[in-house]
Amino acid sequence: MLIDFGDGFVLRHAEPSDHAALRNVCLKTGDSGKDATAREDDPNLLGEIYAVPYRVYAPDFAFVVDSPEGVAGYILGAPDTPAIYARMRDEWFPRLAAKLRDPGPDESRWQRSDWARYALHHPDFVYPEVLHEYPAHGHIDLLEVARGRQIGSRGMRYMLDRLAETGAKGMHLQVSPRNFGALKFYGTLGFSLLSHESLPRHTAFMVRRF
Ligand SMILES: CC(C)(COP(=O)(O)OP(=O)(O)OC[C@H]1O[C@@H](n2cnc3c(N)ncnc32)[C@H](O)[C@@H]1OP(=O)(O)O)[C@@H](O)C(=O)NCCC(=O)NCCS
Repeated sequence: MLIDFGDGFVLRHAEPSDHAALRNVCLKTGDSGKDATAREDDPNLLGEIYAVPYRVYAPDFAFVVDSPEGVAGYILGAPDTPAIYARMRDEWFPRLAAKLRDPGPDESRWQRSDWARYALHHPDFVYPEVLHEYPAHGHIDLLEVARGRQIGSRGMRYMLDRLAETGAKGMHLQVSPRNFGALKFYGTLGFSLLSHESLPRHTAFMVRRF
């Protein structure tokens, strides 16, 4: 156990046996922090893009929040963004894409999880020069039962310390601009919004130097 949050909630390292739980948490929080179950026709793809590869490729920075009812969240980090994106683009995504049809680029025809199938066939990781000051990145998602208990802030501070120890200069996070709760949360941890012409508009980028 790494942090005892009380009431049966603890932070620990994630294990390979947590992959199903990582996919579940990712799905239950995948619609700008809300449950994406009704939107997706493939319940696994969100987690296979945003959660499981981090446990596989950066296991030292992969943590789960255990609760009395099982895994209730994760905090995943990657100290070296270009390194993990290269492995996801060259290994992880092609292996998944081989089993999925490519829905093609016409977004007006996409249904349900087509956005994810397209992303897996056509990886488009965002790491322009303006983010090089913040080479680490990560993801945090907690199920409702774990929210509002300071688990996110204490867990993220723990993650920030671990990432800073690697010598990384800073961290960036991608957030849905509609996820006002998460934007406020990251603000309390010292992250600020970065705007730049090289960054896509449909995502908010929050950054913080170590
Ligand atoms: C966002 C999230 C990680 C925050 O974790 P948390 O443990 O609930 O947050 P904390 O209890 O540590 O809150 C710390 C501070 O952040 C702010 N904050 C947290 N959640 C907030 C929310 N939903 N709305 C507004 N402010 C919020 C508050 O200022 C809070 O301080 P307070 O408790 O004194 O009011 C968590 O709610 C979550 O996983 N939500 C769903 C998934 C998600 O949106 N993930 C982020 C995707 S980018």
